[in-house]
Amino acid sequence: MKKLTTFHIGGKAQYYFPVRNIAELTDKLSFIRRKKLRFYVLGGGANLLVQDNVLKSAVIKLAGDFSAIKKNGNRVIAGSAVTLSKLIKFCAENNLSGAEFLWGIPGTLGGAVKGNAGTKDQSIGQLVRSINGVSGLGNVEVFKGKDITFGYRCANIGDIFIITSVELSLHKSRENVIKRNIEIYRQKKSAQPWGYSAGCIFKNPSGTSAGALIDRAGLKGYKIGGAEISSQHANFIINKTGRAKAADVWRLIKLIRKKVWDVHGIKLELEIKLWGDFK
Ligand code: EPU
Repeated sequence: MKKLTTFHIGGKAQYYFPVRNIAELTDKLSFIRRKKLRFYVLGGGANLLVQDNVLKSAVIKLAGDFSAIKKNGNRVIAGSAVTLSKLIKFCAENNLSGAEFLWGIPGTLGGAVKGNAGTKDQSIGQLVRSINGVSGLGNVEVFKGKDITFGYRCANIGDIFIITSVELSLHKSRENVIKRNIEIYRQKKSAQPWGYSAGCIFKNPSGTSAGALIDRAGLKGYKIGGAEISSQHANFIINKTGRAKAADVWRLIKLIRKKVWDVHGIKLELEIKLWGDFK
């Protein structure tokens, strides 16, 4: 899993199933049901910490048909494996505006919709018109955007519902306007560290920023093993050496939570997903 996550961390998965179309996906889902396995769906591997030991589960990776993208008037219909960077590029090439705020967010459309990815002011749920997917039982289902509740970095889409494609509503704009918007988000992102990370580790508690709280608790630059709290933005943990273990990151997470509680009396909630056993 190390090679498949933006954190560059994680042990082996018991089963790894790249699937290229709905038929392959439903086939693997029936295998998973027969074997009574737990399964995870891997998008771009962002926002995720995978345990070091073998993950006793199946990991499904969508590719092929799930990477297709097309437009229909002011709407874009994109497979869940389309990366956000490809989506933004496609919109810009077609003079469609509304997705620029996603610039610099790693990962794929499916993962972004499940986690309602975005910035402080905008999130992808606002663009979603409909979602196609497959339930754990292998049934193809469609949801209208208005029937889904998008919250702060979450959506009420069950863990076992696999998003296969998403229809997004955008609006027509001029190329230079779209480019200018992208530049604004590019500059905002330059305040965040590059390198192997999972993006922001914690959700922002209401009315404040997790990064500022961790910073004010004096933890910037603190290291455990190969993992380090970024000195650029304290809500990022960086796998500085490329050899950090999930256990290092987990110890840092626990330390941050304790320190922020002791200093500020605030409980930080994880934004990233954990795959495996973390205690
Ligand atoms: N700050 C500090 N020290 C730090 C980090 C931040 O003092 O180490 C201060 C900043 O100076 C600023 C405030 O905290 O006054 C907010 O910081 P920033 O503008 O970086 O925004 P954020 O709340 O930390 C959120 C999202 C990011 C998103 C940015 C930009 C969350 C948890 N984070 O960060 O999303 O990119 O806004 O819109 O919602 C992510 O979800 O993975 C992510 C990185």
